[in-house]
Amino acid sequence: MSRAAEAAGRVSEARQWERLMTMARIGAIAGDGVDRACLTELDRQARRVLIEWARAIGLSVSIDEAANLWLRREGTEPGAASVLTGSHMDTQPNGGRFDGIYGVIAGLEALEALEAAGARTRRPIEVVAWTNEEGGRFAPGCMGSMAWSGYRPLASFAEVRDPEGVRFADALAAHLAAEADLPRRALGGAPHAYVEAHIEQGPLLEAEGLDIGVVSGIQGSRWFAVTLSGETAHAGTTPLKLRRDAVQDMVRAIATLNALMEDPEDVLRFTVGRIVVEPNTSNSVADRATFTIDLRHPDAAVLRGKGDAIEATVRGAVRDAGVEVREVFSAMPVAFAPEVREAVQRAAAALGLRSRVMPSGAFHDAQFAAAVCPSGMIFVPCRKGISHNPAEYAEPGWLATGTRVLVHTLAELAGAEAPSSAARSNA
Ligand code: HGY
Ligand code: MN
Ligand code: MN
Repeated sequence: MSRAAEAAGRVSEARQWERLMTMARIGAIAGDGVDRACLTELDRQARRVLIEWARAIGLSVSIDEAANLWLRREGTEPGAASVLTGSHMDTQPNGGRFDGIYGVIAGLEALEALEAAGARTRRPIEVVAWTNEEGGRFAPGCMGSMAWSGYRPLASFAEVRDPEGVRFADALAAHLAAEADLPRRALGGAPHAYVEAHIEQGPLLEAEGLDIGVVSGIQGSRWFAVTLSGETAHAGTTPLKLRRDAVQDMVRAIATLNALMEDPEDVLRFTVGRIVVEPNTSNSVADRATFTIDLRHPDAAVLRGKGDAIEATVRGAVRDAGVEVREVFSAMPVAFAPEVREAVQRAAAALGLRSRVMPSGAFHDAQFAAAVCPSGMIFVPCRKGISHNPAEYAEPGWLATGTRVLVHTLAELAGAEAPSSAARSNA
């Protein structure tokens, strides 16, 4: 049996599930959901639990200036570039128990399985928990991986404010102070490869009775913030013809954007998910309305064309309000490296699993790692594809199967070596 298969056999479904349920209790909300925003006390509580588990199996722990958290297992070849795995620990405000955290816990479980198999690897393997993948508290998402990969400077996020008005820079500084006991490492790096395990967040794998999604790439995403400025007025005394009503103009703008984004094939994704109205009282005409746009498509040309038309479309639709359109996030579609995709396919085949190649509709930190090193992802099914919802669910067996494919892939990418004689004897 290969070293990779032997390590895969050491994955413990029960231990992994127990760890996921421990994490799910940190920020638990009604309906089996989780609300654990980045850079909060809850986030730090979950990270401390992870750090304890990591140190218990001999991993070294460090953080970088974007607060990305690194758990490292040394390789046998000094100076060899590491193989990365991991995902994110932050959740949507109305999130589930598996989005993100599964990839971090699966990475830990993979290293524990390698340890149990006594398998050394030529290259170090590192599990990373990326800061603020979700963008729920501070928009946009993927700040930690964008800063790490150099896609955007960390400083460019400093003035972003959360719904309570807290600056990202201040939340990050407070977080780093709270974790000042952890060794600090430089931002960036030149790893050998990156592979991330994640729930599919879509219905295909479960519907097709498959075990594993071999992810071919990630569609592109563009986020915008549109602010309409009108004039507040008394709801009872102000004639309609004298009003500059920001809400009415927002309705006109969104209705016109819906027409622009019409797609008979239902491939394009256009979402207005957040609306802020001021002064937000029932008897005052709104003088400001801000709404977000999340636009996605697998074809860069469509994403560029539709996204670039947003501002003119809004300006053409509104009647009285001032218009400001800001692009908050832009990530073009990425195709994952064949060498990582094929390593995942080989792992699934070696373990006798049913898999298919498929794209990701959700963005992930892998989208930014892909610019730094050969990257890829492993999907596991989730019930009815539900995600960003407390009802998000994946069977313990599905998750363990994904972790077996992960450790098999990591073992191959990192160059697993014969188990030490001690491990052979207690195998
Ligand atoms: O929005 C996304 O695609 C990711 O799940 N944060
Ligand atoms: Mn995620
Ligand atoms: Mn998510």
